[in-house]
Amino acid sequence: MSGWIGRAFACELHVDTPAGRLLRRCLDAIDRLKYRHWPDTEIADEIILAMPPEVAEVYLTEDALPLHSCADCGFRVPLTPDTNRRPARRHFDSCPLCGGKVATTPTSTAARQKSRAAVKIQAYLRRCAMRAVTFSRFGGPEVLEVMDLPEPQPGPGQVRIHVAAATVNPTDIGFRSGRQSAQLNDLQPPYIPGMELAGTVDAVGSDTNWSIGDRVMAIVIPRRPEGGAMAESVIVPSNSVARVPEGSSLEEAATLPMNGLTVRRALDLLGLKPGETLAVTGAAGAVGGYGVELGVAAGLRVIAVAGPADEALLTKLGAESVIPRGDDVAGRIRELVPGGVDGLLDAAVIGAPILPAVRDGGGMAVVRGFEGDTERGIAIHQVRVSDYAENHEALDGLGQLVSHGKLTLRVAEAFPPERVGEAQSRLEAGGVRGRLIIVF
Ligand SMILES: NC(=O)c1ccc[n+]([C@@H]2O[C@H](COP(=O)([O-])OP(=O)(O)OC[C@H]3O[C@@H](n4cnc5c(N)ncnc54)[C@H](OP(=O)(O)O)[C@@H]3O)[C@@H](O)[C@H]2O)c1
Repeated sequence: MSGWIGRAFACELHVDTPAGRLLRRCLDAIDRLKYRHWPDTEIADEIILAMPPEVAEVYLTEDALPLHSCADCGFRVPLTPDTNRRPARRHFDSCPLCGGKVATTPTSTAARQKSRAAVKIQAYLRRCAMRAVTFSRFGGPEVLEVMDLPEPQPGPGQVRIHVAAATVNPTDIGFRSGRQSAQLNDLQPPYIPGMELAGTVDAVGSDTNWSIGDRVMAIVIPRRPEGGAMAESVIVPSNSVARVPEGSSLEEAATLPMNGLTVRRALDLLGLKPGETLAVTGAAGAVGGYGVELGVAAGLRVIAVAGPADEALLTKLGAESVIPRGDDVAGRIRELVPGGVDGLLDAAVIGAPILPAVRDGGGMAVVRGFEGDTERGIAIHQVRVSDYAENHEALDGLGQLVSHGKLTLRVAEAFPPERVGEAQSRLEAGGVRGRLIIVF
C-alpha cells in the first residue's frame, strides 16, 4: 500500500509507516464519529473511546509521548496541565516533586512519530471545527452560546454551504424558549437555530448539481440532528438551495428563502386568480412584505394592514390600500371591499377576529395555527413552510423575482454570532423593519 494520508499530513507521515498506519486508523475512527457536541477538553477522550481498542492502547501508551522524567525519583511529566494528552512542551529544569534533575526520556523514532501523529490529530480536529450558535436548554436569550462543533460532511444529495449570513426569525425564539419542544422528538442538544442562510458551496455529496464556489441561499429545517442555519458550515438537501439573485449580496439573499417560501406556499394554498383581492396583516414584517409583493406580482389587488408609519413602505411595495392596524380591522377592510376579500394572509396572527374581512367561501392562510371555528364556508389554510423546504423551483422563482425587481430584500442590521441573543430580543420587542442577520 502506498500513498499519502490526509491533506494535512502529506508532508509528514507516509501511509506505509507504523505511525502513518496508526494515524490512518485514528482518522477513520474520527470520521465514524457522530459528535453532537464537542467541548475542547473532551476531544481526546471521545476520539480514544471511538478508536479500535488496540489503536487506543498504542495511542495511550506513555512510550508514544516524549517524556520528561526525574533522574532522582523517576517522576514522569508526560502532559502539559491544560492540554489533554499533548506532549509536554515545557522544559523542566527540576522535578516538580523532589527538585531533582529532569531529563528527557530517550524515545525511539516510532515513538516520536506516534507522538507527532497524536498532536496532528488534535490540530486536524481543531481545523475541522466550526462555530455555531447553539443552546442546550430552553429559556431566554441567555441560554444562547457560540460553540465549536465538528464541521459536517455532506452525504448523497446534500451540499455544504460556508455560511456568510443567517437570519433571525420569530421561530428561532419559539425554538429557544421551548415552545416547540413537543416537535423535537428525541433530538438531543445542543440545538442550532436558524431557518435560512446564504453563502458559498464548499463541499458537495454525490447526486447534486451544485459546484464548489456557487453563491447560494437555502432554507434549513433546524429540528434535525445537523441543526439549523446559524453555523459557519451547514449541510442541506440540494433542493433546498437556489442561486443568489443577480445583483443581491449574500446578506440580502439570506433574508429570502424561509419567508419567501412561506408566502409562496400561502398563495398556492389560497389559489387566487389575477384581479382578485388579497388582504395581508402584519404587512410591514418579513412575511407580510413578501405577501404584498408576491400578491402584486401574481396580479392580485393587495390591501395591506399595518401601522401609519409603514404606509409609505407598503405603497412602495405595491399595496393598493393600506388599512391602519388596531381595532376592527375586519370592519375597515369591509368598508373598502364590501363583499369581503377573496383571500387573506394573516401574518400578524390576528386569528378569528379577522375572519369577517373574508368573503363567503373565500380563504384565509394562517401561519401559526387557528383556534376556533371558521364561518361562511371560508377555508382555513395552515401554512407550513416545511412543505416547501425542498421545493427548488419555488425558491429559484423567488430569486428571479428579486432579480427582476419585483421582490425587495430588506436587511435591518447585522450582528456577530456572539450577539445573537441581543438580535433575538430586538426582534421580540417589535418594530424591526427588515430582517436582522447574523454574519459569520
Ligand atoms: N407557518 C410557517 O411556516 C411560518 C413561516 C414563517 C413565519 N411564520 C410566522 O409568521 C409570523 C410573521 O413572521 P414575520 O417574520 O413576518 O414577523 P415580523 O417580521 O416580526 O412581522 C410581523 C409584523 O406584524 C406586525 N404586527 C404585529 N401585531 C399586529 C397587528 N395586531 N396588526 C397588524 N400588524 C401587526 C408587526 O409590527 P411591529 O413590528 O410594529 O409589532 C410586524 O410588522 C410569525 O408569527 C412567524 O412565526 C410562520
